[in-house]
Amino acid sequence: MDFSMKRRTLLKVIVLGDGGVGKTSLMNQYVYNKFNPLYKATIGADFVTKELQIDDKMVTLQIWDTAGQERFQSLGSAFYRGADCCVLVFDVNIQRSFEMLSNWHEEFLKQADPSNPESFPFVVIGNKIDLDYGNSRMVPEEKARDWCASRGNIPYFETSAKEGYNVDEAFLCVAKTAVACE
Ligand code: GTP
Ligand code: MG
Repeated sequence: MDFSMKRRTLLKVIVLGDGGVGKTSLMNQYVYNKFNPLYKATIGADFVTKELQIDDKMVTLQIWDTAGQERFQSLGSAFYRGADCCVLVFDVNIQRSFEMLSNWHEEFLKQADPSNPESFPFVVIGNKIDLDYGNSRMVPEEKARDWCASRGNIPYFETSAKEGYNVDEAFLCVAKTAVACE
């Protein structure tokens, strides 16, 4: 196959959400198939890359992991500009992390200032569903889906970064929605 004929695309993805919801764990599971049960808060921001093929396109996802804890946040609006997709993560077992989605959503749009705020591609992830087996879920799936529907039908995924459940599917959707909006 003649790869020179393929278009290569770099997509900038920004992952936001409260401290401890599992943003770093989701990325580590997606890119390295690894999970660390110890919590080490992210300071500032860092990225990993992953290549994948979407139809006839080679796509490089540049996934930016950010600090959820306020005291470790240090990102200016220049950081958000040029993003192709924003992933909003909450913990299905922590009500407040779900309520904060609106703030993260609003803050992203304010900082990134995209030309198409109504149709800008977001993906929402409700993480740590493995803990739900112990009945600790606080946010019903339907509530999360309603929130997503009311904001222009944002795709929604429930994941376990610990078990690797639905993580590839969520990021594949990230890549597809970003490519579609290019
Ligand atoms: P900040 O960097 O502070 O914003 O946090 P974060 O969103 O990156 O969270 P992180 O990935 O560091 O995960 C926080 C803690 O939750 C860690 O102890 C993880 O091992 C744990 N964790 C993450 N995802 C899951 C999951 O799907 N299931 C379970 N049981 N624990 C998880
Ligand atoms: Mg982190």
